[in-house]
Amino acid sequence: MAIFLDTSNITEIRKYNKMGIVFGVTTNPTILHKEGIKGGMGGLKAAIQEVTQLLAPHPVSVEVTTNDPKEMLKQAKEMAGWGDNIVVKITVHGPKGELDNMEIIHELETKHNIRVNVTAMMSAQQCFLAALAGASYVSILSGRVNNMGYNSIEEIKKLRFLLDRYQLKSKIIAASTREILNVTEWLCAGADIVTVAPNFIEGMLVHPYTKETVQMFLNDAAKAGH
Ligand code: G3P
Repeated sequence: MAIFLDTSNITEIRKYNKMGIVFGVTTNPTILHKEGIKGGMGGLKAAIQEVTQLLAPHPVSVEVTTNDPKEMLKQAKEMAGWGDNIVVKITVHGPKGELDNMEIIHELETKHNIRVNVTAMMSAQQCFLAALAGASYVSILSGRVNNMGYNSIEEIKKLRFLLDRYQLKSKIIAASTREILNVTEWLCAGADIVTVAPNFIEGMLVHPYTKETVQMFLNDAAKAGH
């Protein structure tokens, strides 16, 4: 667990997966649009299946593309058939605060054995309700929370406490990373997973003083003729 990649870029996923540090992938319609995935539902399925096959058994989240409740349920079932490691992503409510999504999340998890990642959440209380409904993953968009002037670390801590106290199985995904620092601070606050854009991995790994130190070792090895 710990690190998921928030991308659909297969080259980047392959690159970091080979290092053994990727334990899942999350996508959303915005990410897929930026990546230029076209071809309707067939195009989406092809792109997602490339990722599911590469990453299996690690989970790959794909988001429903409709706000119509019946269509959402139908799409979620269809997407779940794209791979054993598919997790269907559903926003906690609709764009006008419509509440149908929660019923669908509950039904998918409890009646259809489909893993759901509930997304677009900005608070511990939203995530807590999604966890009660049975969500396998609850995504708090922590960077967006911070952007609104609230401290996402406090929300993650509260959520960790509530999930543990009521023995809820949901895994907390802290998403919407803005700074390299977010990864460890959100994990330390109690998130099970932080999902990051691929460039964050390089930012976490590469350190200027490490570069200098490695160069020193190489220079001295050369001087010693080893
Ligand atoms: O999946 C949610 C996450 O990707 C949102 O990130 O950067 O658009 O806030 P961002």
